[in-house]
Amino acid sequence: MIDFEALAEPGSDDEKLLQRIDVEALPRHVAVIMDGNGRWAHSRRLPRVAGHKAGIEAVRDTVETCARLRIDVLTLYAFSRENWKRPRAEVSTLMALLKEYVHKELDRLVDNNIRFRVIGRLDDLPRAVQGGLQRAIEATKDNDGLSFNIALSYGSRTEIVDACRSLIRAGVAADDVDVDTFSRHLYTAGQPDPDLLIRTSGELRVSNFLLWQIAYAEIWVTETLWPDFRRTHLFRALIDFQQRERRYGGLTSKERPDPAEVVRG
Ligand code: IPE
Ligand code: IPE
Ligand code: MG
Repeated sequence: MIDFEALAEPGSDDEKLLQRIDVEALPRHVAVIMDGNGRWAHSRRLPRVAGHKAGIEAVRDTVETCARLRIDVLTLYAFSRENWKRPRAEVSTLMALLKEYVHKELDRLVDNNIRFRVIGRLDDLPRAVQGGLQRAIEATKDNDGLSFNIALSYGSRTEIVDACRSLIRAGVAADDVDVDTFSRHLYTAGQPDPDLLIRTSGELRVSNFLLWQIAYAEIWVTETLWPDFRRTHLFRALIDFQQRERRYGGLTSKERPDPAEVVRG
């Protein structure tokens, strides 16, 4: 059961938005490109890392909201393989923030029945960060609420290459490779594909994120910078998502011929 009062205060604007959401038709998987931390800091004449620090509250609110809405999977893009190109000081602050976040949040993740996972090249990360992440993965592995994937040192092309390597190592014959088999060798094996892809801070691109999995995702872009993102924005994204008609290459319900006509030829 969804605890509506925990999601929005009675009488608040959030409650009005929440009432417009059909909780029976939520996306199973929401993926987010958390962008705009640098711009948020710049607009306040702060160093870029202040934007990354401020972004943590947005992560907390989004994770908690998805868990409370009983969404199955949330994937947050936190650090791409391309982000290693950034200045060393920015990268090390991001790593320190990540370590701190996992350490501080672990109890909350456990309490909220959240299963924490990492997608990406975990081995690229500093040892101390890897240790904290492994502890959180281990401590939450039996939870069956929200699956919270964090994408770290993640690149979608690398993921596809890693899937090919994994297929070859498993000795899968060329003729046995199909879409389902391939999906089972991706980092997201066993999880539904994202239905909704959110990007903050206005950029209209996917930046090497879940290229395979977003084949039919609905895309929602907001000008809001990641540190300002809260459940209000997530509610708006969900309302918008529920107004889309997903066709998967087929026809709309209005365009589909009525079955009687098909029989008559
Ligand atoms: C997103 O914010 C966080 C990471 C990529 C780690 P940015 O740091 O990319 O912020 P902008 O795009 O420069 O504003
Ligand atoms: C995408 O944001 C990566 C993450 C949010 C972690 P970037 O800021 O790195 O993407 P580009 O450079 O604008 O494409
Ligand atoms: Mg950016």
